[in-house]
Amino acid sequence: MIRDSLGRELRDLRISVTDRCNFRCSFCMPDGHQYEFFPKEEILTFEEITRVVKVSKSLGVRKVRITGGEPLLRRDIEKLISMISPFVEDVSLTTNGFLLKEKASSLKEAGLKRVTVSFHSLRDEVFSALVGRSVRVAHILEGIEEAIKVGLTPVKVNVCVVKGINDDEILSIAKFFKDMGVVVRFIEFMDVGNLNGWSLDKVVSAQEIVNTIAQHMKIRPIGRSYRGETALRYVYEDDGREFGVIASVTQPFCGDCNRLRLTADGKLLTCLFATDGHDIKKLLRMGASDEELAEFIVEVWQGRKDRYSEERLLLLQKGSVPRKVEMFKVGG
Ligand code: GTP
Ligand code: 5AD
Ligand code: SF4
Ligand code: SF4
Repeated sequence: MIRDSLGRELRDLRISVTDRCNFRCSFCMPDGHQYEFFPKEEILTFEEITRVVKVSKSLGVRKVRITGGEPLLRRDIEKLISMISPFVEDVSLTTNGFLLKEKASSLKEAGLKRVTVSFHSLRDEVFSALVGRSVRVAHILEGIEEAIKVGLTPVKVNVCVVKGINDDEILSIAKFFKDMGVVVRFIEFMDVGNLNGWSLDKVVSAQEIVNTIAQHMKIRPIGRSYRGETALRYVYEDDGREFGVIASVTQPFCGDCNRLRLTADGKLLTCLFATDGHDIKKLLRMGASDEELAEFIVEVWQGRKDRYSEERLLLLQKGSVPRKVEMFKVGG
């Protein structure tokens, strides 16, 4: 096990397999910009990703999450999953759900344990406006149902809450997924990247979200299920089902942050809000040994001192927020 300069263990690896996406969510990749994507030859191959997983495992990584962009757009993603699943106990994937219905069963067969689906409204118009594409909510729900059916469980749903856009649906979304037996997590709108027009007054705090639900249902906080979990969890007293809030803005959790991120073009990032990455692709393509790769990861992790979410308000006050990597290039 290795620790960074603030004593945090390396536990999770989040792997972005593509920076492309079939949605244009306003809070991540707003429409109307000219986006440049990594050229094919810059993207890590499945063999290269698998080597990073194998070496990371030897350093203590226990969980891998596949992200994007939209990870289901990466061709033969099932193949990658079958290559990495022997190395880690928990392989999960975060998706926008659009291709989930058709892919759920092959993903399960490949060894994927569970999925988390981004889902922001029960109304077609609001959903479509938020994701910048015409999408039927029912289609995403069919994907979620299929994931449950094939056993990619527990299925979780992430709702990015933006004030004035979908905050009037907090209660209806909570109830809807409670009835469906799906764990929903409401995420505070974050200032990831530089393009999403974030401001503090568009954030609905986790406390406000919890209060909205508590006004209508009896709930009880149960904290985090493991050290470094993003979500603060609550149970409904009537049926013991669960929901969560991810309070990255108002109650940052950097103190326990154990996540290393790998971008599709082979950079290691030590924070979701990082400016730069550490180029592991160069080593992979120079023929480095597993030991050399391990040494590189150890060096990157031990040098880590990121705690952006804890510093955010101060940086905002000082007007010195650094330029950050875009969300769709890190995968959240
Ligand atoms: P579980 O293993 O199910 O607990 O997944 P997870 O919550 O780690 O992953 P998921 O992709 O569902 O992330 C949920 C939300 O939390 C996303 O909006 C992420 O961007 C955000 N998030 C995940 N990790 C971090 C982090 O290290 N820092 C911050 N600030 N946000 C994070
Ligand atoms: N703030 C909060 N959550 C976001 N997501 C994307 N952009 C933002 C943002 N600015 C969510 C996605 C996905 C997860 C990885 O992060 O909807 O569920
Ligand atoms: Fe939306 Fe996810 Fe695509 Fe970003 S990567 S635009 S959050 S679906
Ligand atoms: Fe970790 Fe950076 Fe998120 Fe803090 S802001 S929890 S250091 S990824």
